Amino acid sequence: MAANKKILLLPGDGIGPEVMRQVGRVVEWFDRRRIATFDVTEGLCGGAAYDKHGTPLTDETLAEAQRSDAVLFGAVGGPKWDNLPFNLKPERGLLRLRKEMDLFANLRPAMVFDPLIGASTLKPEVIQGLDIMILRELTGGVYFGEPRGITTLPDGSRRGVDTQVYTTAEIQRVARVGFELARKRKNRVTSVEKANVMHTGVLWREEVQKLHDAEYKDVELADMYADNCAMQLVRNPRQFDVIVTDNLFGDLLSDCAAMLTGSLGMLPSASLGAADSSGRRKALYEPVHGSAPDIAGKDLANPLASLLSFAMMLRYSFDMAEEAKLVENAVQAALKSGVRTSDILQPGTARVSTTVMGDTILRELEKLA
Ligand code: IPM
Ligand code: MG
Repeated sequence: MAANKKILLLPGDGIGPEVMRQVGRVVEWFDRRRIATFDVTEGLCGGAAYDKHGTPLTDETLAEAQRSDAVLFGAVGGPKWDNLPFNLKPERGLLRLRKEMDLFANLRPAMVFDPLIGASTLKPEVIQGLDIMILRELTGGVYFGEPRGITTLPDGSRRGVDTQVYTTAEIQRVARVGFELARKRKNRVTSVEKANVMHTGVLWREEVQKLHDAEYKDVELADMYADNCAMQLVRNPRQFDVIVTDNLFGDLLSDCAAMLTGSLGMLPSASLGAADSSGRRKALYEPVHGSAPDIAGKDLANPLASLLSFAMMLRYSFDMAEEAKLVENAVQAALKSGVRTSDILQPGTARVSTTVMGDTILRELEKLA
């Protein structure tokens, strides 16, 4: 029998632990129903790791993540740690994981669940049936470029520097993932940059085009400036299939796309590395929402983005498409039954806690399995 699937849970800070608790319940359910068994370990990341170890990510936790088949991540950060030196901030823990595991391809699907159409601030006819994939480059660009830092100038004033930098290889490997994804979807890629003002944008556009012409002529490719893309996302989001873009633009555009779906609380993500010789990829799955310190610990958070991230893990790390569908259908059914956490509350629906949303998912899983 194949070895158990090894997953590392890193709940992190804020609402991270409470949404991850619901994922833990679904993992147990899979085990109990003998659908899949996982070897689960849990670790600290972000402010929680800082409080215990004085660093947002220990070398041991990083090594554990490298050894795992998949990492399930909650959220990091909060006002408690806002004044820490830059390199000790909770976010550095997550960024170090992404960088050291070389998770360059960040998949952020934005899908509108029918029962949630009314929760979006956009008109139903604009978002009905929306299904787009934002593919964000995750280990390069201004997030990691050197030089960076704040220096004091001779006159006593200060100067802050961040560097936006991309190479051919970095652009092409993420574009390749984009074209491959598009082939399994509506076969359309929109490559997004600011080639009108940035050299990295010019390079991005040229390298994506080159790869397209050499290997992916069958996929429809369009270029778009990032500012226009932000506008098009709220004007007519269904024109998009796969959007491939850099680290910073991807960060912004995915928050924007999230709200099309009604709430940031619904958006999952997968961060993938390159496939090794056996086809295995390092992977980390996390909700796109942050740690939401204002509601943390109150059992109010929406656990669905985390549960959908778990579904992405089943699909992308373990090739369990059917089981992934099962979780997604349970989410759909729970929404249809009319229960809502406060972020997606609408007239005529029932406001429930994080835990009760988890209960509902388990009940729906029982019905569907
Ligand atoms: C995200 C978040 C992170 C980012 C933060 C928490 C470092 O906003 O995953 O979108 O900026 O990448
Ligand atoms: Mg973000």
